[in-house]
Amino acid sequence: VDESITLQKALPFKFGAAVNNSLFRQNTAYRNVVIKEFNSLTSENAMKFAQLHPSENTYTWTEADYLVDFAQQNGKRVHGHTLIWHKNPPAWVLNFQGDAAAWDKLLKDHITAVVTRYKGKVTSWDVVNEAIAENGSLRPESIWLQKLGPEFIEKSFIYAHQADPDALLFYNDYGHEYGPTKRTAIINLVNSLIQKGVPIHGIGMQMHTRYTQSNANLSAAITTAAATGLRVHIAELDIAMNPDNIQDLTYSAGLAEQQKAKYEYIVRTYNAIPKNQQFGITTWNVGDADSWIRGEYKRPDWPLPFDDNYSRKAAYQGILDGV
Ligand code: XIL
Repeated sequence: VDESITLQKALPFKFGAAVNNSLFRQNTAYRNVVIKEFNSLTSENAMKFAQLHPSENTYTWTEADYLVDFAQQNGKRVHGHTLIWHKNPPAWVLNFQGDAAAWDKLLKDHITAVVTRYKGKVTSWDVVNEAIAENGSLRPESIWLQKLGPEFIEKSFIYAHQADPDALLFYNDYGHEYGPTKRTAIINLVNSLIQKGVPIHGIGMQMHTRYTQSNANLSAAITTAAATGLRVHIAELDIAMNPDNIQDLTYSAGLAEQQKAKYEYIVRTYNAIPKNQQFGITTWNVGDADSWIRGEYKRPDWPLPFDDNYSRKAAYQGILDGV
């Protein structure tokens, strides 16, 4: 292993990781890999609504501050994730009683408080996360859609922009690579925001993908997003190796090589979009054991470029080979 090579030095765009705060605080190996390899940090959970704003009049900044302060001291970019998401409104939001104006104020107050606190420190935000469902319609289960209508999206961008006019604002979602239905809906939404003059500067594609995903679909996802002219962030990259949930699967050398090729393909395709649109690639955590995939899908899996012990996998070399 050539320790003089790192992802952040080798790649011509920012290469980031989602950081788990408790691992970052407690696990020296994890912390050291983050410091060494990555130059952009996304908080895996600490900037989500429920974590930052657990009751109406309480903000809990400790964890997010910790990561932001660390990043500032170590010259790492911070990408903020995420202001508005259907998935984690705290109970007080779900139980909130109020008319449209009161909901509007709730939305604005949260966004304003968070973006203002990190003004000048957090470069960019996933303003709205996952607003679109698999069938291409706006997600009906979103409390924000239910209470504010489709305008919750543009309002969120406008409020974020008012709080920090220099912050780069992203619409973030998954499934660009699944096929045309969801991809087209996302791109149409983004283009309609651009046409309305809403302050939006980038598309985040999560890209929680799998080694069996076709190169054609991955390429379509990246090039279609770039065609909007906005910045493109591959924001939550991981490549699942056990999409069929086989409980006794082992991670063979053959699988590792297929994963390497898929990482390389994604990086190569991303590196071919215009330079000024390359916001960067962020993997969703660091080592395989840290990945949300194992817990979420209750199966063995190895989705990341580092193994359980933070050794570089073949996938790591695939990333280097992509540029
Ligand atoms: C996940 C985290 O990784 C988990 O730790 C948490 O329990 C749930 O959220 N899409 C997103 C991320 O936008 O915020 C999600 O993160 C993964 C899917």
